[in-house]
Amino acid sequence: MSAKVSVCDHPLVQADLARLRDKGTSHEQFRAALANASAIMGVEALAGLATRPVTVHTPLKAAQAKVVDQPVVFVAILRAGLGMLPGLLQLVPEALIGHIGLYRNEETLNPVRYYVRLPKDLDKSFVLLLDPMLATGGSAVEAIRILKTDGASRITLLSLLAARAGVRRIQREHPDVRIVTAAIDPTLNQHGYIVPGLGDAGDRLFGTL
Ligand code: PRP
Ligand code: URA
Repeated sequence: MSAKVSVCDHPLVQADLARLRDKGTSHEQFRAALANASAIMGVEALAGLATRPVTVHTPLKAAQAKVVDQPVVFVAILRAGLGMLPGLLQLVPEALIGHIGLYRNEETLNPVRYYVRLPKDLDKSFVLLLDPMLATGGSAVEAIRILKTDGASRITLLSLLAARAGVRRIQREHPDVRIVTAAIDPTLNQHGYIVPGLGDAGDRLFGTL
């Protein structure tokens, strides 16, 4: 895999992934594990944020420090990307939030767009695109295309679980986009589900099974 893919092997993320994969996990537990894993992975995904030097005054002396110097935008692919926001907003409460509504056509597996609402100034922002599942890659490719059309140039895709085929597709169609994931599974089944995967992330998150 290219250098642009980071697989987050943190024990706490892997423990959350085990819970998320487990078919016995309730939707309440699923939400908590997804939010927690997203926060930990978010720390890694946001490591390239621009900073600027500042001087702060401790009770003892002036000290050199750094502060974040770039707007942060979280863009959730609906529906399942919404489940990643609670954890990430703990890291960056002031982040702006965009929504891209896509669902997969069950026969063609192509994404169908139904809603887009994005913050301004994406060209100056560090954009984290959120979707727990990267399967064929069709939804992420379409969301990245929408973001780039709106000016985004620095995009990281945060996906809890990726299929090898989806990773390859992003690398082929958007080689500038970094991917942060917790695992890369080998295959997709004939319905486009990641195998072994975790099932339908949106349905498990929202209890719509
Ligand atoms: C799921 C998932 C991704 C997409 C991944 O969404 O949350 O957005 O499938 O598949 P792909 O890589 O093959 O495009 P789904 O279309 O089921 O919509 P939902 O989140 O509203 O359930
Ligand atoms: N979407 C999901 O929710 N799960 C998959 O395995 C593939 C796409």
